[in-house]
Amino acid sequence: MENAKLILDGKTFELPILIGTEGEKAIDILKLRAESSYITFDPGFGNTGACKSAITFIDGEKGILRYRGIPIEQLAEKSTFVETSYFLINGKLPTKTELKQYSLSFTRSAKLHKDMKKMFAGYPSSAHPMAVLSAMVCSLSGFHPELTKLNPSADDIQGMAAQLLSKVRTISAYSYRKSVGKPFLEPRDDLAYIPNFLHMLFSTPRKEYKIHEDVVKALQTLFILHADHEQNCSTSAVRLVGSSKANLFASVSAGVCALWGPLHGGANEEVVEMLEEIYRSGGKVEKFIEKAKDHTGNYRLMGFGHRVYKNYDPRAKIIKERAHALLKKMGIHDPLLDIAVRLEEIVLKDEYFVTRKLYPNVDFYSGLIYKAIGIPTNMFPVLFAIGRLPGWIAHWKEMREDKDSRLGRPRQIYTGDKIRDYVPIEQRK
Ligand code: ACO
Repeated sequence: MENAKLILDGKTFELPILIGTEGEKAIDILKLRAESSYITFDPGFGNTGACKSAITFIDGEKGILRYRGIPIEQLAEKSTFVETSYFLINGKLPTKTELKQYSLSFTRSAKLHKDMKKMFAGYPSSAHPMAVLSAMVCSLSGFHPELTKLNPSADDIQGMAAQLLSKVRTISAYSYRKSVGKPFLEPRDDLAYIPNFLHMLFSTPRKEYKIHEDVVKALQTLFILHADHEQNCSTSAVRLVGSSKANLFASVSAGVCALWGPLHGGANEEVVEMLEEIYRSGGKVEKFIEKAKDHTGNYRLMGFGHRVYKNYDPRAKIIKERAHALLKKMGIHDPLLDIAVRLEEIVLKDEYFVTRKLYPNVDFYSGLIYKAIGIPTNMFPVLFAIGRLPGWIAHWKEMREDKDSRLGRPRQIYTGDKIRDYVPIEQRK
């Protein structure tokens, strides 16, 4: 393919064209600033490729999501979260022996340093678990300095990934137990990843939590569906921080903070709050839809819309089915699920949402599953973070191994004052 041509101030610039394996095209503007005085302007990076990546492919127009080539539907049906995380991070499906070793490394890494456990006591019980999670993830660099080498080997990265994936589960469970004033429980060596998490969340020193197979399956699916989503806000944050050669824990902690926001991973919390508000108002779905369409306020229907998907989010389709199945199996009738279904039905026919291609996203039904399991609303983004961890680690690793990766440093168009003189305080009005 020919180079793209850009004419600026009468001069023609030849810009190389890059083509991905799925035919995605990009104009390479890397040299434009050096050869002209122009930068490109793209607030929110909606049309900017920041890297080449072999991890995840999304076609937002067609509603396609694949991890390293495998459709998300197949992984959600057949894989486990631990296997999917190995696959995302290492780029190949593990053999039986590799998976066994990998799971074993999680078991060995599950416990927190005794001094780290004391840190939870310093937080008020009202602390949001995402505040605790981000701080604790970053603190892992302090408790495990041996894992923060400037140039880690492939084995070092494997070790860090196991520590992080395993410890995040323990940290998350402890931040929940702290918030409800319950004592911490040690992880158990005999339990798999998700049952061990449920044990640390819900068992008591006297009574073991009864592991429900359907609950494990539902969480397994949710974690797999959240495991990666290419250059989203939190993954870009991890890459940006990691581009300065910050260690994995510091970089991932930035991802947790980015995920917390209500426009990103915090939306699942907001969805359930919105559905509860609709319920309290007597189920007047139409009133809330009208409010979201009115641009005089800032109100939005949470769980609708996506920067990339301009078709039904493939993850939302699977999660909707799982939410119905789990609630039915557990004999739960949640009026919020009825409201969600009605809201979706009306929205999908409403011209405002149709013309803007606003469909339910991954967060719309996930909260209803967490709620059915007994997980409180403020823990929803924490569960999203556990799920997204393999993706963050895979991107951090990919960037470290990419010889072309550079320090992240966007440009800007300055719109402030031109040069002016400092005014001494006595002369200011
Ligand atoms: N409710 C009502 N209107 C909406 C919504 C919504 N949920 N989402 C977008 N719109 C409207 C906007 O007002 C805008 O209308 P206009 O063209 O008349 O000005 C138009 O649709 C385009 O919206 P943008 O904000 O430009 O779209 P963008 O791609 O920047 O935003 C986002 C995507 C942030 C996800 C947005 O759809 C939103 O705020 N959704 C609600 C929050 C949410 O569910 N977030 C989770 C996303 S999934 C994830 O991150 C894991």
